[in-house]
Amino acid sequence: MLSVEEKILEIRSKMTADLESVSSSEGLTRLWGEYLGKSGCVTMLSRELGKAAPADRPALGKAINALRGWAEEQFKAAESAVKQRELEERYLREAVDVTMPGEDLPVGGLNPVTIVRRQLIDVFGGLGFKVYEGPEIEDDYHNFTALNTPMEHPARDKQDTFYINDDLLLRTHTSPGQIRVMESWEPPFKVLVPGRVFRCDDDATHTPMFHQMEGLVIDKNLSLCDLHGLLDTMAKAMFTPDTKTRFRPSYFPFTEPSVEVDVSCCECGGKGCSLCKGTGWIEILGGGVVNRKVIENCGLNPDEWSGLAFGFGLDRISMLKYGVNNIHILFDGDTRILSQFKK
Ligand code: DAH
Repeated sequence: MLSVEEKILEIRSKMTADLESVSSSEGLTRLWGEYLGKSGCVTMLSRELGKAAPADRPALGKAINALRGWAEEQFKAAESAVKQRELEERYLREAVDVTMPGEDLPVGGLNPVTIVRRQLIDVFGGLGFKVYEGPEIEDDYHNFTALNTPMEHPARDKQDTFYINDDLLLRTHTSPGQIRVMESWEPPFKVLVPGRVFRCDDDATHTPMFHQMEGLVIDKNLSLCDLHGLLDTMAKAMFTPDTKTRFRPSYFPFTEPSVEVDVSCCECGGKGCSLCKGTGWIEILGGGVVNRKVIENCGLNPDEWSGLAFGFGLDRISMLKYGVNNIHILFDGDTRILSQFKK
C-alpha cells in the first residue's frame, strides 16, 4: 500500500497532467470534483489521517493541507486560462465583419399615383396653391347641383354613380371640393383638391376608385390666357421643359368656356407614335373659366370675382409618365411593381 506521502506525490503529478490537458469549463468542474469535491481524492486523503499513527498526524495533516492549498491555486490558474481561451474562441466565433455588405430588406416604393400627386402639389405649391381635401362621401348638392350639372346629366345616372341614398353618394369627381372651398374661404385664393373619386366603371383603363386633382383659382379678371400660363408651367415641370400645351374647345357644366388640354407626346416629342396614336398630342385634363352660375351658387358676386378651374386624372398621368398600360397594376399592391418606383 502507498504511504500518504506517496499518494500526495501521485496526486500532484496526475493533477498537473490533468490540468494541462483540460480545455473547457465543464472539464475543469468535473476535475475539481475528482480532486477537491466531497469524495475527491484530496478530501479522502484527509479522512485517512485517522488511520495514521498519532505521532505522524500533525506532519501528515500539514502535508495534506499544503496539497489542498496547492491544488486550489492550480485550479484557480487553470480556470483563468480556460476562461481566457473560451473567450478568445467566442470572439472568433462571433466576430462581425463590419465591412461586409448589408442584407437588403425587401422594401417597396411609393405608388406612382402618390409620386405624381406629390409632384403636382410641389409644382402648384410653388405657384401659391394651398391644398384642401373634401369628403369622399358627398351630397348631391355639392357633387352635382352646385356645379351646374343638370338633372338629366348622364353622370347623375345610377349606372354611373355609387349612391348611398337619394341624397348621399361617393363623389364622382374632386370638383365638389371647389364648391366647399368657395363657400368657406375668403377670395382671392388658389387651391388644389387631390383625392379619391368613385364611378361604376371597370376595364383596362378604368377602376371603380381612382384619383383626381382639382385646381381652382378665384381672383379678379381671370381669363383663359391665365389658365394656359398655369397649365403650361405645370406641363413643362411634370414632363420635359420643351413640352407644349394646347387647348381644345370642350364642354363641362361648371366652366364656360371649357377646354380639354393636350400636351405634346412625352414619348415621341410630337412626331407621332403608338402612345399618342399618331397625333403627337395626349389629353391630360379638362378645365375652363368657372361658370358664373357656379360662382353665384357659392355666394360670390360673379361681376366681382372670376375663376379658373381644372381637373386631372392622377392615375392617367402616372400611367403616361411611367408607361403603365393597365390601371389595375396601380392598385394591386404587387411589390414587384412598386419596388420599381424606389427612390
Ligand atoms: N370634374 C371633371 C371630370 O371629372 C374634370 C374637370 C373638368 C374638372 C373641367 C374641372 C374642370 O375643374 O374645369 O371629368
